[in-house]
Amino acid sequence: MESLKKKISSVQEDFIKKITESSTIQEVEKVRVEFVGRSGKVSEFFSQLKKLSQDEKRVIAPLLNSLKETIELESKKAKEFLIVKREESARLKKKNFDVSAYKTGLLKGHVHPYSQIVERIENIFLSMGYDILDGPFVENDFYNFTSLNIPQDHPARDMYDTFWLNKKNLLLRTHTSTMQVKTMEQQKPPIAAVVPGYTFRHEAVDASHDTMFMQCEGFLIDKNVTLSHLFATAQEFLKALFEKSDLDIRVRPGFFPFVEPGVEIDMRCPFCEKGCSVCKKTTWIEIFPGGLIHPNVIKAGGLDPEEYSGFAFGFGLTRLAMIKYEIDDIRLLLGGKFKFLEQF
Ligand code: DAH
Repeated sequence: MESLKKKISSVQEDFIKKITESSTIQEVEKVRVEFVGRSGKVSEFFSQLKKLSQDEKRVIAPLLNSLKETIELESKKAKEFLIVKREESARLKKKNFDVSAYKTGLLKGHVHPYSQIVERIENIFLSMGYDILDGPFVENDFYNFTSLNIPQDHPARDMYDTFWLNKKNLLLRTHTSTMQVKTMEQQKPPIAAVVPGYTFRHEAVDASHDTMFMQCEGFLIDKNVTLSHLFATAQEFLKALFEKSDLDIRVRPGFFPFVEPGVEIDMRCPFCEKGCSVCKKTTWIEIFPGGLIHPNVIKAGGLDPEEYSGFAFGFGLTRLAMIKYEIDDIRLLLGGKFKFLEQF
């Protein structure tokens, strides 16, 4: 019986050695079957049990049972350990992802044309002493309309195909002019600021209309501000943006409820002398609407229109980008197509 006991313990040792050496789940399973499978080593012991005396059986049977249990349990643990190890090494492999394994030079990242032009515009205005402001996309009726001298039921609201939100009085800003009164509430004049940013309109999308596009609002509020300040600002800005020191502008009357008088500033086409497709053969490009801030807007901002005046403008940044970079379809700008983006 002693020799049988020894055999059993040497089988156990053999099992432990083999299972520790197994490095895959398949190997573990093979070892398990080798020992407790139908014709495995442990099963053989069981078949020999009947040859033993009653007393011997009483000692050996529990030993065999516990050996079998140990083997099953250790095999299960070994498999679990290997699964965890496998996951971990997959994770590590991912971490040590070899970027150079991909060909470089094919998809080089670069700055989006929107970001490029926004940065240029900001730099030009910063050099003139303006602040750059940002504002929320979700606005209320007051800052988008009422404070800008567009009361409820005013027909000018029709100009703005507005995305209203489910919550009363909330909307996606239709223009960046929303920041005029907000800024007056927060800062004392002199104020000079530009607000480049996304705006939203409920439009049918085509080559020149999108539901999301960019505008740049600008305003200057101080004592004795006149239209000539606006004209000079517009001209200096356009000259710098199109890098043309002799860029002419012309001014026509325009209407916007938040300015009085309102103007449309056109620039001489920077691309041609006699007319081209960009200026529709007119040599002029309509680009820069603005005017003197309406006294009602100054009042809405908590300032006295007798004391303060200001000018405001709000040009289509998207349109400007399209003209500057000769983009003929607005949908390309946010379309995310590499072929398009690669050109900038
Ligand atoms: N907010 C106007 C629009 O979206 C653009 C605009 C025109 C802004 C004249 C101004 C301005 O500040 O003076 O159509």
